[in-house]
Amino acid sequence: MRERGAGTDSPGRGDAERRQDATVTRPHVLLSVAMSIDGYIDDASSERLRLSDAADFDRVDQVRADSDAILIGAETLRRDNPRLLVDSADRRAARIAAGKPEFPLKITVTASGELAADLRFWHHGGDKLVYTTEAGAKRLDSLSGLAEVVSLGTELDFGVLLDDLGRRGIARLMVEGGTRIHTAFLAADLADELHLAVAPLLVGNPAAPRFLGAASFPGAPHRRMHLADVAQVGDIAVLRYLPKPETKAAQDIRFMRRAIELARRCPPSATAFSVGAVLVVDGVEIATGYSRETDAKVHAEESALNKLDAQDPRLARATMYTTLEPCSQRATATRLPCTDRILRAGIPRVILAWREPATFVTNCVGVEKLRQQGVEVVELAELAADAMSMNRHLKLS
Ligand SMILES: NC(=O)c1ccc[n+]([C@@H]2O[C@H](COP(=O)([O-])OP(=O)(O)OC[C@H]3O[C@@H](n4cnc5c(N)ncnc54)[C@H](OP(=O)(O)O)[C@@H]3O)[C@@H](O)[C@H]2O)c1
Repeated sequence: MRERGAGTDSPGRGDAERRQDATVTRPHVLLSVAMSIDGYIDDASSERLRLSDAADFDRVDQVRADSDAILIGAETLRRDNPRLLVDSADRRAARIAAGKPEFPLKITVTASGELAADLRFWHHGGDKLVYTTEAGAKRLDSLSGLAEVVSLGTELDFGVLLDDLGRRGIARLMVEGGTRIHTAFLAADLADELHLAVAPLLVGNPAAPRFLGAASFPGAPHRRMHLADVAQVGDIAVLRYLPKPETKAAQDIRFMRRAIELARRCPPSATAFSVGAVLVVDGVEIATGYSRETDAKVHAEESALNKLDAQDPRLARATMYTTLEPCSQRATATRLPCTDRILRAGIPRVILAWREPATFVTNCVGVEKLRQQGVEVVELAELAADAMSMNRHLKLS
């Protein structure tokens, strides 16, 4: 058992000292929950209420696979006895191929230290971590050899917990409830993203747990979250909210990461780059594309634009995120270069991660051409290595 994360904190310190450790980057925190139409996340029986269906569990499996760690409250462990795994063998293989552990780190928090050693959580998947208090740690000897137990002092502060995860290199944390855990993260303004899967059923029993308990949430009741996405998975509506106000720069990074994800989906090619593109209006994705998505020649930006009406009025306010500089000349003479497609669509803003090298064309002038026509072009050089990572098999010049 270890005391206090990286050892910079001491038990009993005051609120002022609990502020974020400026030397570490806390993970991105994503809260994920399935709830009924009337806001319940379970019923009051001893059996767990099935809110999700197979398709929605598969969606959650992908979010787990994309996370470095998954956190769940001790009460959910005791009541539901989950294994908390990435089920898909393909997703686990993709994690290993990307140099990650097969399973995300599994984390629970407890003050009481009442966690039995025979819970399934300890006996499946990869590494396990328990955050607790000094008092709780005294009751967790039975977990020796099953999990690392970390005491955060006389009480457990979730900001301190995130600092410790940041020091361990955890960049994405998925939080899977229950009520008290979600409430604590939102009340402390520590959640960056919220996935609400709303299942079409009613519970109607006040003894059942709800998504959130009462708390003084920052800015409540007037602060509005940003609705980043609405998706339908079978009969379930999946709403993606961003609880904190997002800066333009942070939004650019987020959508470029999304474009990088799309670039990884490109059918492989030995003669063309793999590129991802996202078109965004008012912070909401309106179309996406990736290289060779619909035919062997289609470019990412072209594929995204092909999904919209050429006269779509939203294009005049859109931002095009593309992992690679839009082409200014094309080998396929019957198709317009992406730079011309962007100019024709009247898109005023283009964000890219890396400039086209002279691998397939000698002189790409996409950025220059766009700027000459008054388009704002931003280069996110900090994401260039990620954006070109799926093209390393090509001899980049
Ligand atoms: N539908 C869904 O998506 C979903 C997902 C997950 C869970 N659930 C449901 O949620 C219900 C459980 O919710 P819940 O609110 O009762 O429990 P919970 O949030 O899962 O866990 C609460 C426990 O976490 C520990 N904890 C919380 N804050 C802490 C802090 N600051 N310091 C130390 N420990 C802390 C405490 O453990 P100790 O008691 O050990 O001190 C506390 O009792 C279950 O019915 C479950 O099925 C639903």
